Amino acid sequence: MKKQQLEETPAWIALKEHFEEIRSLHLRDLFKDKNRFQEFSLSDSELSLLFDYSKNRITHKTFDLLINLAKQCNIKERAEDLFSGKKINTTENRAVLHTALRDMSGEEIIVDGENVTAKIKAELEKIKQISEKIRTGVWKGSTGKKIEDIVHIGIGGSDLGPRMMYETLSFYHDGPRVHFVANIDGSDIHETLKVLNPETTLIILASKSFTTEETMQNLDTAINWLGSLDVKKHCIAITANKDAVKKYTIDTILLFWDFVGGRYSVWSAVGLSLACAYGFTRFYELLEGANATDHHLLNTPYEKNIPIILGMLGIWYNNFFGAETHAVIPYSQYLSLFPMYLQQIDMESNGKSVDSNGKRVTYQTGPIIWGAPGTNAEHSFFQLLHQGTKLIPLDFIVYKEPLEKYNDHHDRLVAHCLAQGKALAFGEESTNPYESFEGNHPTTTLFFDKLTPKNLGALCALYEHTVFVEGSIWNINSFDQFGVQLGKKIAREIFSEIKTKKTGNHDSSTQGLLKTYLTK
Ligand code: F6P
Repeated sequence: MKKQQLEETPAWIALKEHFEEIRSLHLRDLFKDKNRFQEFSLSDSELSLLFDYSKNRITHKTFDLLINLAKQCNIKERAEDLFSGKKINTTENRAVLHTALRDMSGEEIIVDGENVTAKIKAELEKIKQISEKIRTGVWKGSTGKKIEDIVHIGIGGSDLGPRMMYETLSFYHDGPRVHFVANIDGSDIHETLKVLNPETTLIILASKSFTTEETMQNLDTAINWLGSLDVKKHCIAITANKDAVKKYTIDTILLFWDFVGGRYSVWSAVGLSLACAYGFTRFYELLEGANATDHHLLNTPYEKNIPIILGMLGIWYNNFFGAETHAVIPYSQYLSLFPMYLQQIDMESNGKSVDSNGKRVTYQTGPIIWGAPGTNAEHSFFQLLHQGTKLIPLDFIVYKEPLEKYNDHHDRLVAHCLAQGKALAFGEESTNPYESFEGNHPTTTLFFDKLTPKNLGALCALYEHTVFVEGSIWNINSFDQFGVQLGKKIAREIFSEIKTKKTGNHDSSTQGLLKTYLTK
C-alpha cells in the first residue's frame, strides 16, 4: 500500500460497506446453511490439521472481499520476498530469514554475497554434535560428571520459544532437565540454582545481542555460582555477537545472525536446549513441521491458505468490528505457555503505529493477545466471553488423540472445547436475562491429530505467518521492535542513580518513587 492509503483502496471500501450489511447477522442465521462447515473448513494432511473457521461472522461475500484485500496487498509476493532474503525489515535494513533455518530444499540463499544456507547448515551440524555429546555423557562437567541439568538463560525471543516448546513437548522428554531463567529479579535465578548441583549443570546462554541487561546479569550470577569449576565445560553461548563473548572464558559458541529476529530464533541454535532435552531428531522434526507450514503459505492458493485466512479474519475483527483483543485457548495443558509465547510473536511484531512510509497509521494495528489453557480458562474468564460486553474473537487449539492414555480425560476435554465453541456461537435464550446467552461470539478451531514435535513446529509457523499477513495488510514493519528501547534506556539511567545514590532530573512521580527506594 504505498501510493494509496489502505482505507482508500477499493478492497477496503468494499469491506467497510459490506460490514454495515452484515454486522448484526447472527451465527444462528449463518448456520441455516447446512453446508457451512464443509464450505468454511479445510483439512491439510501435511500439517495434520483440520481448520474450522465456520463459526466466524462471515458470509461467502465477506470471505471473497477479505481475500480480495489480501490479493490487493500482494501477500504472496511479500511472502516470496521474505523467503528469498529480500531486506523486508526496512528500518534495520535486514533480511528476515527464520524460514531459511527450517528450509529443507537445499536451494542456496545468498544475501549480500554471503551464503546463508551454508552458514545455517554448519550451525545445525553443531547443534547435532553438541546435543548428542551432552545427551550421551561424552560432554562432561569439569569434575568428570555427566550433565544432568541445563540452565537456559535468555529473555524475550531467546527464552519464550524454547521455554514454551520445552514445556509443550514434555511428554517426549528423555534428556537432561532444562530450567529457564529470564527475569532480572534475582528470585528467578535463586530459585533455579538452589536445587541444582553445579558439577552436573550446564549453562546455555542465549542472547542475540549479548548485551541484554537481564541475561548478562544472570550470566554473571551463574558463573559465580559455578565457583572453581571450569567455565569452558559448564557454559555455552549462543549469539549473533561473537565478539562480545570474548570477555568471558566461554569457548563453545553457536551462532545465529542479524537475519534471524529474536522472536523467531527458536529455529536456530537458540533451540539447542530443546535438542539436548529431546534429541536432535525431535528438534529437526520441529523444523520439518515449520517448513511444512512455509510450503503451505507459499504454494496454497489464497482461498485455501490457512495463515492468510487466519490473518484476514484478524483484520476483519480488528479493523471492522473494532475488536481490541484476540484470545487463544489451547485445549491442551501441554500448550499452557503458548499464549505467552504468542504474545511476543504478535505484539512485538505488530504493536506499531507508524507505517513503512514513516507515516502514522490511521487504522488499528496489532491486537492484544491473551489466553490460557482450557478447561481452566472456563472457570476464570469465560464468564466475560459469554455474557460480557466485548467482542473477543477466539482460537481453540485441540488434538484428536491424547498422548497419555487417560481416555476419559481426553474425551471430556474435547467435549468441553466443542461445547464452548457451540455455546459461544449460538448461545441460549432465556426469559431470565441473567441466564440468557446472546451468542454470536466468533471462534476458529485448529484441530490437530496428535501433539508431536512436527505439528508443534507447524502450529508455531502458522501463527508467525498469520502475524506476517496482518502486518503486510497494515503496511507496517513486523520485524523491528524499537518500542522496547526507551524503557531500557531510562532503566539504565535510574540504575546508575541508585548506585550513586543521586536522584537525577525526573518528573515528580519518578523522583518521589526513587527517593522512597533510596531511603529504604
Ligand atoms: O527487549 C526485546 C528484545 O530485543 C527482543 O526482541 C529479544 O528477543 C530480547 O530482547 C532478547 O534480546 P537478546 O537475544 O539480544 O538478548
